[in-house]
Amino acid sequence: IFGPRRNSVGLSFGDEAALGALLNGMEAEGAKLGTPELTSLVSGEEARSENNRPLISPSTGETIATLHEADEEIAAAAVKEAVAAHHEWNALPAEGRARALERMADLLEVNRDRLMAILAREAGKNLEDGIAEIREAVDFCRFYASEAKRLFVPHPLPGPVGEENQLRLEGRGVFVAIAPWNFPLAIFLGQVTAALAAGNTVVAKPAEQTPMIAHEAVRLLIEAGVPKGAVQLVLGGGEVGRAILDQPQIAGVVFTGSTGTAKAIQRQLAERDGAILPLIAETGGVNAMLVDATALPEQVTDDVVASAFQSAGQRCSALRVLYIQEDVAEGMLRMIEGAARTMKLGNPAEMTTDIGPIIDETARRRLADYVERRGGVHWQGEAPEEGTFFPPTIIRLDQDEALQEEVFGPVLHVKTYKAGRSEDVLREVGSSGYGLTFGLHTRITETAERIAGKAPAGNVYVNRNQIGAIVGSQPFGGMGLSGTGPKAGGPHYLLRFAEERVISTNT
Ligand code: NAD
Ligand code: ALA
Repeated sequence: IFGPRRNSVGLSFGDEAALGALLNGMEAEGAKLGTPELTSLVSGEEARSENNRPLISPSTGETIATLHEADEEIAAAAVKEAVAAHHEWNALPAEGRARALERMADLLEVNRDRLMAILAREAGKNLEDGIAEIREAVDFCRFYASEAKRLFVPHPLPGPVGEENQLRLEGRGVFVAIAPWNFPLAIFLGQVTAALAAGNTVVAKPAEQTPMIAHEAVRLLIEAGVPKGAVQLVLGGGEVGRAILDQPQIAGVVFTGSTGTAKAIQRQLAERDGAILPLIAETGGVNAMLVDATALPEQVTDDVVASAFQSAGQRCSALRVLYIQEDVAEGMLRMIEGAARTMKLGNPAEMTTDIGPIIDETARRRLADYVERRGGVHWQGEAPEEGTFFPPTIIRLDQDEALQEEVFGPVLHVKTYKAGRSEDVLREVGSSGYGLTFGLHTRITETAERIAGKAPAGNVYVNRNQIGAIVGSQPFGGMGLSGTGPKAGGPHYLLRFAEERVISTNT
């Protein structure tokens, strides 16, 4: 259903030479980073404000840059410049826009080691997560380039003799792209490149925790041939986001982050004068996995540990509540605990590190407070003292308890269920109102089909882990409190960034 395109290959960690080259490259590039002054980029020009603060590395606690947060004037200037650039960018045939995005994919690959060094330092990404993040960013660039060429062509429509009807897709204008810190390159670029591919110009606001990688990405987009006016970078937090959304000339918003922020944005958009703006929101989840007595214990163990603890659980897709059939629960839990015990927390740039830090001290404290308040800890690992680490933790829920809120970190809740009561589990999972990912382990085909068909989630994974959706293969996004859709990396995504026009000509 898609045009010709291949996903990138990433890196084989078993290839010693390739791994050595990566580690050397990261060290060399890391040494060149210094402690930069990070400013907004308005049509490629640095825009400084008086409002600056140190950016702290989560893994070392060191100051790694100075962040200059934008003010209202900068936000307004960025939108104005993006408006001015829109006509020319939108008028380019889709092939022209796609070419720039394809060059961007190549540049990401060429600059891999520098990007990896920044991802480790600023976002605490370990090697596996960093490589996966760059792959996903590359894949988004090539995928949306290919989708633009597939979709953004005139579509002739039927009509009476003597009349020609044509449907055209065009960019809407200036899209505001607001990104989270947990995929600071892949999601940031996924939003920006989708909006650009569809013929919009973009005002991009990365998360306040991860401006450095976003700065780098925008610099590379301009080098790849995206006009300076078409991609504006505005740095800062929620206040800055609100200032951009207040600008009267914006035409749409794509947001990824928490459900609470998505709702705040929706309210702000509803209160604006003028047009009704589209909001694409991809948000959080209270994701569950159901494991029945026929499941393969070794496979379950691997998949639970990866789904709950990889990336320190800082994935919207991560497993939060594991439901195990009671007959096999104790043995399964012992294996999971045993595997989790072997995970090493530490410097994300080291080969042996399984789990990097929590993004900042505020997030770490929130997790610590949650676990302390809640109790019921079944097992907890150990975390380094330096940096903002949080140990993998397993909490047993009582039979009458259902998790209703996303706990964004390496905290796995476990419950048991009785044979034949899987429908009750599905009802309980659905009661949170979220619907992002759902994992299922069973060796009974009928059970797999029945539960996969009913699971209240946008992405259902059977007999595997439930993280790391692949662009074009596992279009990603949830339902209900987890987001509006359409799915990122899927066939309908670009359509939401576009305006449809029909031209009917009497010939
Ligand atoms: P967040 O909602 O705190 O922040 C996200 C972005 O919104 C940041 O850039 C932030 O500065 C900005 N922001 C905050 N308040 C704003 C406001 N009022 N107006 C405009 N912008 C505002 O989320 P986070 O902590 O950065 O990210 C973690 C959350 O993201 C988790 O809930 C996670 O599940 C979710 N997430 C979802 C997906 C998905 O694809 N569904 C992917 C990654 C992360
Ligand atoms: N798309 C990311 C994943 O699937 C969030 O883990």
